[in-house]
Amino acid sequence: MTDISSSPILTVENLSVEFGHSRVIDNLNFSVIAGRTLAIVGESGSGKSVTSQSIMRLAESTGASYPSGRILFSGEQGEIDLLSQSQEAMRSIRGKDIAMIFQEPMTSLNPVFTIGDQISESLSLHKKLTKSAALDESMKLLKMVRLPDAEDMLNRYPHQLSGGMRQRVMIAMALACRPKVLIADEPTTALDVTIQAQILTILNDLQKELNMAVIFITHDMGVVAEIADDVVVMWKGKKVEQGPVKELFANPQHPYTKALLAAVPKLGSMAGEPFPKRFPITVMDGEGTRLVGEEKTQATACYDKSPLLSVRDLVTRFDSKKAFLDVSLIEYMR
Ligand SMILES: Nc1ncnc2c1ncn2[C@@H]1O[C@H](COP(=O)(O)OP(=O)(O)OP(=O)(O)O)[C@@H](O)[C@H]1O
Ligand SMILES: [Mg+2]
Repeated sequence: MTDISSSPILTVENLSVEFGHSRVIDNLNFSVIAGRTLAIVGESGSGKSVTSQSIMRLAESTGASYPSGRILFSGEQGEIDLLSQSQEAMRSIRGKDIAMIFQEPMTSLNPVFTIGDQISESLSLHKKLTKSAALDESMKLLKMVRLPDAEDMLNRYPHQLSGGMRQRVMIAMALACRPKVLIADEPTTALDVTIQAQILTILNDLQKELNMAVIFITHDMGVVAEIADDVVVMWKGKKVEQGPVKELFANPQHPYTKALLAAVPKLGSMAGEPFPKRFPITVMDGEGTRLVGEEKTQATACYDKSPLLSVRDLVTRFDSKKAFLDVSLIEYMR
């Protein structure tokens, strides 16, 4: 069990972020505790990624300034304000004490280096491991995120992996130095639900093992219910709601939180329905919400017509011992 009374490891205090004259984060406050997961939810453009990039001090490389705020981190040297650290000092914190899984794995994996080189770089830099010790450790990390054929994986390049594999490599990289805080920015949004569930389980297990504080950014309330202890809801750069996950789900206050929760399908709502069904969705309209669309049965599958597209006996092979895909017969029906 986590000790709820333990003090925060990271506190964002009155943080404001501007790009030129445009304020995209306004007086934001929240904190995270070791061993707990804080979910940040909010619509596209509400400032979730800018918040995480500000904690990592990466936002200024794209033109951000911080007119107000402190980001307090309790590390080995006691409490420091990340906003007043030099980039040089941040280089020894990033990846070691605070690590991040980015929204787009392809933009943060380097296409010209192997997976092994990329994971071991952080170990050589922060843990001063030799090249061969770093590669050994990289292999352990790849096994830890349950990637098959870890040894073979070390020599592969990012483009030779599937989306789910890349995401697991990113997790392995982020966890290489056993960080105290892990920021995961929509790590599973682009993945199918099976891989998503696997990755959430891996993150959950590793969090327990390492007693990490996790900041998990998502707009999927199903994922929030699964992993979060506490939730911060952002709306246009501001925090509009915050609370323990159970309380927030039971009694959402802000229209955006209500809209997000309304978008989660209710178990049993399709009982007895022979076809898929469309439901109206709740969207924000100004400061309130509005229902868009109508309830309608979708006649999506009609099996008595000839296929629009047929694939027969397709075999695709990659020049790798184990990676091949064999699709023998799939038919797309109209
Ligand atoms: N480099 C930049 N220059 C100017 N404006 C920026 C920059 N980066 C982000 N912004 C603006 O900051 C706001 C917040 O963007 P952010 O990327 O944090 O959104 P988000 O909540 O992560 O959205 P999404 O769910 O789509 O990832 C947006 O209005 C965006 O246009
Ligand atoms: Mg984002």
